[in-house]
Amino acid sequence: MTERDGVAKLTRVADIATAEDAGLMPPPRRAGSGTYPAITARGGRTLHDVTTSARHAIEQPTGIARLTPRSAAAERAARELRQVMGRFATGVTVVTTVHRDTIHGMTANAFLSVSLRPPLVLVSLGRCRMSEMLPRTGRYGISVLASDQEHFAAHFAGQRVSPVDPSFAWHGELPLLDGALAHVGCKVIDVHPAGDHVLWIGEVEHLWHRDGEPLLFYTGRFGTLADVSDRAGGR
Ligand SMILES: Cc1cc2nc3c(=O)[nH]c(=O)nc-3n(C[C@H](O)[C@H](O)[C@H](O)COP(=O)(O)O)c2cc1C
Repeated sequence: MTERDGVAKLTRVADIATAEDAGLMPPPRRAGSGTYPAITARGGRTLHDVTTSARHAIEQPTGIARLTPRSAAAERAARELRQVMGRFATGVTVVTTVHRDTIHGMTANAFLSVSLRPPLVLVSLGRCRMSEMLPRTGRYGISVLASDQEHFAAHFAGQRVSPVDPSFAWHGELPLLDGALAHVGCKVIDVHPAGDHVLWIGEVEHLWHRDGEPLLFYTGRFGTLADVSDRAGGR
């Protein structure tokens, strides 16, 4: 059990211990091999193919590269990028997926609309358990959090256990967080490795929304519209 298992409805998957976790480069995986189902994606590739290439991207750098200390300049640049991007106020979502009766959720703000016709969205994921699960499930849900759901944002980011159990609305086999402002249900149709993240493109299969106040994320902190405008004013 991990911290986020504190709720009965949210069973977490067991840690997937791999050579990768031990800092070793895994053996190259042949297309079509491995344990993931071959779900057909756009362009004739299977979901297995696209997620395998994404996985290899995530697994870079190799074990050897990991032994090399990151340069101070690269670390400074990463810190600065984080600070600059922190000025880009965003909403907050919880990405959900389910595999063998196990619901997994994670907080993400790198979510955006990609195309209206066809309807496509994406979420950008770094190394996380969600990235391990999506190749198996092939679908993810996005719940856009309301201002009174900060506890869930912290919970699904692994920061602190929510005092309130999350409950889920189901669309087909996809769980979406109750109390959210909007729901998007998607089928993964493509993945694009990008540096230390992978962009998971989803074709929209389900949409729902209601009126309400959003939860925001700005300068590394959660807030409401009122909080953020105070912070922007330097108070
Ligand atoms: C406000 C906020 C936004 C986040 N956005 C992202 C994101 O867009 N992509 C990502 O990979 N991690 C993001 N994270 C970090 C993940 O929520 C965190 O690493 C989580 O523990 C991953 O869950 P998992 O490894 O159990 O799947 C965010 C965290 C917070 C607090």
